[in-house]
Amino acid sequence: MITLNTDKAFIEITKEQVYAQAAEAKSCNRTLENGTGKGNDFLGWLHLPSTITEAEIADIEATAGKLRSKCEAVVVIGIGGSYLGAKAVIDALSGSFDSLENKQTLILYAGHVIGEDYLYELSQFLAKKSFGILNISKSGTTTEPALAFRILKKQLEDAVGKEEARTRIVAVTDKERGALRTLATKEGYKTYVIPDNVGGRFSVLTPVGLLPVAIAGIDIRQLIAGAVAMEKATGSEVPFDRNPAEIYAAVRSEIYKSGKKIELLANFNPKLHYVSEWWKQLYGESEGKENKGIFPASVDFTTDLHSMGQWIQEGERSLFETVISIAKTRHTVAVPSDEQDLDGLNFLAGKRVDYVNKMAELGTQMAHVDGGVPNIRIELPELNAFYLGQLLYFFERACGISGYLSGVNPFNQPGVEAYKKNMFALLNKPGY
Ligand code: PA5
Repeated sequence: MITLNTDKAFIEITKEQVYAQAAEAKSCNRTLENGTGKGNDFLGWLHLPSTITEAEIADIEATAGKLRSKCEAVVVIGIGGSYLGAKAVIDALSGSFDSLENKQTLILYAGHVIGEDYLYELSQFLAKKSFGILNISKSGTTTEPALAFRILKKQLEDAVGKEEARTRIVAVTDKERGALRTLATKEGYKTYVIPDNVGGRFSVLTPVGLLPVAIAGIDIRQLIAGAVAMEKATGSEVPFDRNPAEIYAAVRSEIYKSGKKIELLANFNPKLHYVSEWWKQLYGESEGKENKGIFPASVDFTTDLHSMGQWIQEGERSLFETVISIAKTRHTVAVPSDEQDLDGLNFLAGKRVDYVNKMAELGTQMAHVDGGVPNIRIELPELNAFYLGQLLYFFERACGISGYLSGVNPFNQPGVEAYKKNMFALLNKPGY
């Protein structure tokens, strides 16, 4: 199992303060399970891992297999909760250079930006490939993915004809509402449903995340198995002192109350960059409302120690750090000995590169704790689908508990509409 270590979190707060919150955290977890809290019509994610059926998994795998056999590239169209989960898992579990090696179906993304140059360059690239499209939008009306889909659908139809294009387009959307559902029905696309009671940022374990991940050749059964294990480990019947989601929620809530308003999610493995992006949306949209909420930020170490390290060490003391640590690497690289030793690195000869990374991690933790930055540590035994499934579910569960601890509805996002209204009015969209 992945483990949570909060030993170094107690700088301005005490363990006693956290344990004084145990009953409250437990009660928030029960509220989630009983479905009696705010936003209780959006709790479908809670038991997704343990309730997904063999038929659903097999269907996703079959569609992924079809697209993989037909297409050199699949463009995953989506934004926010309809994009970040898949990107997080695919980046975390793929080889760093897989996409350059034509080893498997190339996963490309669109609709996550409004970029004319990006779309032009993507379409130029796709002109040389046989490709398919996976269009993911719960509402079916989000501007960024709708724009990208309109352009790429036309390109695909022009390239292979309407009939063939229909077999290469898959839609993941609402079961009955929205423009994408209407179009999919009209065109006869293969479709998957995003359940009504699962919000975008909690949808990674629905077809929103599972289908693109399966197309990328990743074992979704292991991902789900990991999430099932964490669903059990974080249930409200598990005592507080053994319940990582309740502890994480209680510790960060106490740290926030002590005046630290920023949580920095740090990793020492660049493959986790998009796990942090996914986490930022999860916590930012869930907690940042009613003029409160921890600001979720992220860094990739050791890279960012050479840019943000100064601020973290000596800037305003308003942050705490949560580090995702991977115990075991997938591969082994030892430092070679060098006759001349001009770089002075012979003292490391024979040592693993990961040993250097681990010492950087330990040294950073010591320095940041000394500098007044409380440290929470989440350790994965290794970076595979099983432990990543645990991590994703752990963060989701803790997020629900956290939101209830701070008194907000963690499952709505009224604030994201403000820019859209202005943008639509500026674009002269009818009705705005
Ligand atoms: O969490 C959310 O609700 C948002 O990030 C949405 O997922 C995002 O705006 C995309 O929405 P849709 O799937 O409706 O296109």
